[in-house]
Amino acid sequence: MPIRHIRLTRLILTVVLVVIALIVYVHHDRLEEELSNIDLDLPLEALGLEHNESPVLVADEDDSPIFNASLYRKLYSLSTPDRQYFRIDWGSGYRAYNPNIIPHPTQSDAYIVAALQVKVQEGIFDNSEIACTAKFIDGTLKCTDTPTPLPIERTEGHCPGDLYFHNLRGGPRDARMFYGPHAAYLMYGTLAENSCLGLFLQDLSVLRDDGFDPKEATFKNGTELQRPPPYGIIQKNWFLFWDPQGRMYAHHDIYPMRTFAALSLGGSTGRDLSVSTAYHDSACMARHMPTLQLDETIHQATNSLSITQCKRSDRWCHPTDDNTFLMTIVHHQMFHEWHAQYYGHIVLFKRDAPFELHAISKKGLWINGKKPHSCGMESMLVSGCGISGHDELFYMTSMSWANQNQTYHGYIDDPLLLAFGIEDVRSGGIDVLAGDLLQDLALCDGPKKVKSQS
Ligand SMILES: *[C@@H]1O[C@H](CO)[C@@H](O)[C@H](O)[C@H]1NC(C)=O
Ligand SMILES: *[C@@H]1O[C@H](CO)[C@@H](O)[C@H](O)[C@H]1NC(C)=O
Ligand SMILES: *[C@@H]1O[C@H](CO)[C@@H](O)[C@H](O)[C@H]1NC(C)=O
Repeated sequence: MPIRHIRLTRLILTVVLVVIALIVYVHHDRLEEELSNIDLDLPLEALGLEHNESPVLVADEDDSPIFNASLYRKLYSLSTPDRQYFRIDWGSGYRAYNPNIIPHPTQSDAYIVAALQVKVQEGIFDNSEIACTAKFIDGTLKCTDTPTPLPIERTEGHCPGDLYFHNLRGGPRDARMFYGPHAAYLMYGTLAENSCLGLFLQDLSVLRDDGFDPKEATFKNGTELQRPPPYGIIQKNWFLFWDPQGRMYAHHDIYPMRTFAALSLGGSTGRDLSVSTAYHDSACMARHMPTLQLDETIHQATNSLSITQCKRSDRWCHPTDDNTFLMTIVHHQMFHEWHAQYYGHIVLFKRDAPFELHAISKKGLWINGKKPHSCGMESMLVSGCGISGHDELFYMTSMSWANQNQTYHGYIDDPLLLAFGIEDVRSGGIDVLAGDLLQDLALCDGPKKVKSQS
């Protein structure tokens, strides 16, 4: 073949290849655009998500007379035989509640669980958070070693006046154990300098020997976290979040006004960043947060995670600012007849400054297996049992990606572990697909919707 022909053939081949590459690129771009424009009010099926095998049980609606499918979204376990939540078993002699579950960094099929200990001995006043390594055994998440208190340094109290009694009770409470993008942390409440009870942060690597590298710790000592004003006398229920550049922020309040700010390594705070989104966010919450009756509030509950609203298994799915949000769960708290009940609602906000609210779930999360309030149940309150019209108190504390080594970011087809305290004495958890939590979202900028009552 003459050289000229070879050159021509090469040229034609190159042109054809470039054209094919262009077509693929444009198609891909379109798909990405389409994915990011999906209306989240659509049912999961419309997103091409097969719903996990829907439960056959019809009688199941009867596990609580209060359950109402137009107010609540029932969550079914992916793995337990009866699709109900699983219990966390600390081992004989130990009781604990408000648990947190994260996958173990080095042992497969193992988890680290931590929770507030229910004291059995007399004469012990300080709080402690106990933790163990746990595995699923016969449908229960069981400690495989003896739970040990996390070695958190005791601090001195400065609670004034009527709150003086708090000074007598040191130790951590309300702890949240969670992954950020690069490390696992424990955030806990304890006696503080700047308020009566403040929130502290410490790297988990310094508190436990699970194979995390303590040399990498950025919060080596328990560090009191500051916040922009208003500075309450008791700080609780904050969560941390990270932007795509890995910068760290603390979210202090959500309702009726958000407060959040950058957090620096020494625990000091930046200015309140919520100011620039307050107008948009208040309007969104007024439309989509549950309507509050007397003795009801909305407060922050869990840590945060980053979620991309398409499937990991879909090769066209890539995180962008339009499909990736920061996710947390807030509680709709009702306190009636001296018994609290909490319903979780998902909140999504933008992953970049100014972090404006994106969506709020219309229905309260309902954990399959939750029972009506009854006299036989194990509860912190002994009096006032069997309150009619009430269910067991479920208090959501933690949300983590269930797969080993998956820290902060995930996709809608990734499994999640939710953990909750039950009646302030027991601990439970449930594994669901992330997409299961996002089925009832009302978009801040979406069409006007009827407000939920839950
Ligand atoms: C369920 O909630 C809806 C909305 O509040 C209400 O209209 C309906 O009557 C409730 N159903 C039952 C059985 O209580
Ligand atoms: C940090 O903790 C270590 C070990 O407990 C202690 O020796 C040190 O004084 C602490 N540093 C600060 C600044 O509190
Ligand atoms: C998780 O990371 C550890 C340490 O890098 C590695 O040994 C392990 O195989 C990883 N597990 C999975 C499921 O990828």
